[in-house]
Amino acid sequence: MISAVKGMNDLFGKRAMRWGRMEEDIRRIVENANFTEFRTPILEEIALFKRGVGETTDVVQKEMYDFLDKKGRHVAMRPEGTASVVRAFIEHGIAMNEPMPFKLYYIGPFFRYERPQKGRYRQFHQLGIEIFGDETPQMDAEMIFTACRVLEHFKIDYEVHINSIGCKECRPAYREKLVEYFSSKKEHLCEDCQKRIDTNPLRLLDCKTCNPKAKYHDIPVMTDNLCGSCDTHFKQLKNALEIFHVNGIIDPFIVRGLDYYTRTAFEIVANTGGSQNAVAGGGRYDNLVSDIGGPDTPATGFAMGLERLFDLISEDFYTEPLISAGYALCDEAVDDLVHFAKHMSHHPVRFFADYKPKKFKKALQKADKAGAEFMFIIGEDEAKDKKILMKNLNTGEQKLFGQHEVILIVNELLNYESGKFSATKV
Ligand code: HAM
Repeated sequence: MISAVKGMNDLFGKRAMRWGRMEEDIRRIVENANFTEFRTPILEEIALFKRGVGETTDVVQKEMYDFLDKKGRHVAMRPEGTASVVRAFIEHGIAMNEPMPFKLYYIGPFFRYERPQKGRYRQFHQLGIEIFGDETPQMDAEMIFTACRVLEHFKIDYEVHINSIGCKECRPAYREKLVEYFSSKKEHLCEDCQKRIDTNPLRLLDCKTCNPKAKYHDIPVMTDNLCGSCDTHFKQLKNALEIFHVNGIIDPFIVRGLDYYTRTAFEIVANTGGSQNAVAGGGRYDNLVSDIGGPDTPATGFAMGLERLFDLISEDFYTEPLISAGYALCDEAVDDLVHFAKHMSHHPVRFFADYKPKKFKKALQKADKAGAEFMFIIGEDEAKDKKILMKNLNTGEQKLFGQHEVILIVNELLNYESGKFSATKV
């Protein structure tokens, strides 16, 4: 039997419906905040991610789905969205052609060759937002607030962890401090971290394998080593977050797994326990546009893992719509049922017809199995009199309507539906 590729999931039925609703809600929230959709291709030249995300990151070194295409071009399936959006931002001259700040969002699949487990997949989905052309800490605060707005809409209990990882001016000296600090502790570090001392010492701070932050309590932190302007930026960020009512916890060990960040870095974790609970992360990346060959453009953004968000949304957040089903009990009733189905299709109710004539008992069983709450029946007598029988499967109540009284029927259904869900609707 051929099964799905490891770490990649199918989505169907009620879960697909809930997922679709979740995406609709997210789009509405971010579009209200004036973000517009931005779509980029799944495949990019691998050089983009090497330069953008960073040669020494796990994402580039271990997790890339990359291959040579038929002409021998080395391409990769996007592991994240920021580098692609920056590539497109430069390619389309957006800095010159659009008013700044330029605010965009994306929703779509991303690919990382990681060890699959709950909340970690090889094909996963993100909501991302990016804001170009604004260096203010207030915009960072708005960006973080937007992530919180999404989580609050879905009634998720979460914590925001924020940090500043400095800039080109102050980070090199801090980096040296870390190298010096960890060099004497090399033999107590995991194999990856021993290499990281030379390649990417900041990543030692959030290593989950040898976990230095749990062992050593005097590790130098970036927030004590910021230059004047980064320090002011961080203070103003904290102030703006307070105004937005975002309770950020200052966490000097948030360093992020991607190399492009400057100053603000943050992660949001859900308060549910579990090891894969970072539901969103992001920060400022003021050098990325120029590093990839574009004009000097400050930028900030985040991405949220949609599988992780989906798992956090409570089962009763979305109510199931009312379903009704139509059946013909004899051959003479089939055309009437076709007419009825056509008329019902113009209305905002969930209705399906089963055109194969069947006995009443069988129709009842099928309607029940399909989760229908109302059933419409056209038997021999109804066909003769141009009537249709409506049966409420919860109460057993029956009503006879003329086949053309579709508006009356739809009103009954809508009234019933709104009464049913008024207690639970969010
Ligand atoms: P990231 O932290 O690598 O950041 O990913 C953001 C979120 O995507 C994570 O917090 C997590 O919820 C989800 N995620 C990541 N990998 C997986 C996976 N294998 N399976 C399921 N969910 C996953 C970025 O991607 C940056 N581009 C964010 C950003 C945007 N920074 C600035 N702008």
